Amino acid sequence: MSVERVVDTIAETAVEVRGGLAGRRTYTEGENPSGDDQLEADVWADSLFEERLLAIDSVGSYASEERPDVIEGDGEGDYHVAVDPLDGSSNLQSNNPMGVVFAAYDTPLPAPGRRIVAGGWVLLGPITTMVVATDGPVTEYVLEAADEATSESHLTDGHGGGEPVERRPVAEDITIPEDPTVYGIGGRVPDWPEDLESFVESLEDDRLKLRYGGAMIADVNQVLTYGGVFAYPALVDRPDGALRLQFEGNPVAHVIETAGGASSDGERSILDVEAEEVHQRVPVHVGNADLIDRLEDALD
Ligand code: F6P
Ligand code: MN
Repeated sequence: MSVERVVDTIAETAVEVRGGLAGRRTYTEGENPSGDDQLEADVWADSLFEERLLAIDSVGSYASEERPDVIEGDGEGDYHVAVDPLDGSSNLQSNNPMGVVFAAYDTPLPAPGRRIVAGGWVLLGPITTMVVATDGPVTEYVLEAADEATSESHLTDGHGGGEPVERRPVAEDITIPEDPTVYGIGGRVPDWPEDLESFVESLEDDRLKLRYGGAMIADVNQVLTYGGVFAYPALVDRPDGALRLQFEGNPVAHVIETAGGASSDGERSILDVEAEEVHQRVPVHVGNADLIDRLEDALD
C-alpha cells in the first residue's frame, strides 16, 4: 500500500491537533523519555497520532518522542512511523509557531535516515503547511479542513479515523535558495564550542541575519524558504546536542538534502549516522551545502 496514506493521515491528524491546542496549554506532571516537561497538548497529540496511524494496515509500528517504547501495530505493515507530535511545544504558552515532524521508515526503529520512504513536517504557523519528500522531490502543501477547502481536488480519505482535509500543493520541486539569508542556532552561546562561534561570525560577515524562534521545525522551514543554516549543535557539556535522530534529525536531513542542501552531525551526513537507540540524540546542522561544508571544516 502506498505511503501516501500515511502522509494523508499525518495531515489530517495535524489539522485535528491544531484545533485542540487552545485548551491544552498547561504542563502535566510528566516528562518525556528525553527529560522534557510535557504539556497536556504533547500527551494528547501523541495519543491521537498513535491511534490514527496504527489504524492503517500498512503501518507496522509507531514511535514518538513522547513515549519510551515503540508500539507495534496488529498487522505486518511495511512502514514504521516516527513522530514528534508537537515539535517546539514550549512555544505554545507564548503562542509562537510549532509543528509536527514525521518519518516513515521501511524498517523497524531505530533506523538510519537512508531508510526513510516519506518524511517531512507540518508547520503550525499563521497557515498550516506541510512539507514532504517521498521518493521524489520536496513539495509544500497547504492543509485545510475539508469544509473550509477552496477546491476538492486533493481531499484525504479519513482512513485512519480522522476528518478529511484538503492537501493542496502550493510549491513543487522545492530547492533551497542559492543565496542564503538567515541562520538560527540553538543552545546558549557560552555553551557552544569555540569553533562554532567563529563559524557564526563568518555568517555575519556574509550578511546573514539571525532568526531563531525555538521551534526546530519553524526554524528549519525558514532555512528551506530563504536559504541559510539551522543548527542545534553539540554543546560543551552536551556532546550529542538536544535533538533526536529518529524524530527530528533524520526527517529534517531527508527533506533538506532532497532540496539540494546538506546535513551534518559535525562530521558526516545525518542520514549516515548509525541508529542505535530510539531516543538517541544527535547534533543537527542543516542548510545550504556550501555553508554546511564550511561548518564541517570549522568544527574539524
Ligand atoms: O524538540 C526540541 C525543541 O523544542 C526544538 O524544537 C527546538 O529547536 C529546541 O528544542 C529549542 O531548544 P532551546 O530552548 O534550547 O532553544
Ligand atoms: Mn521536537
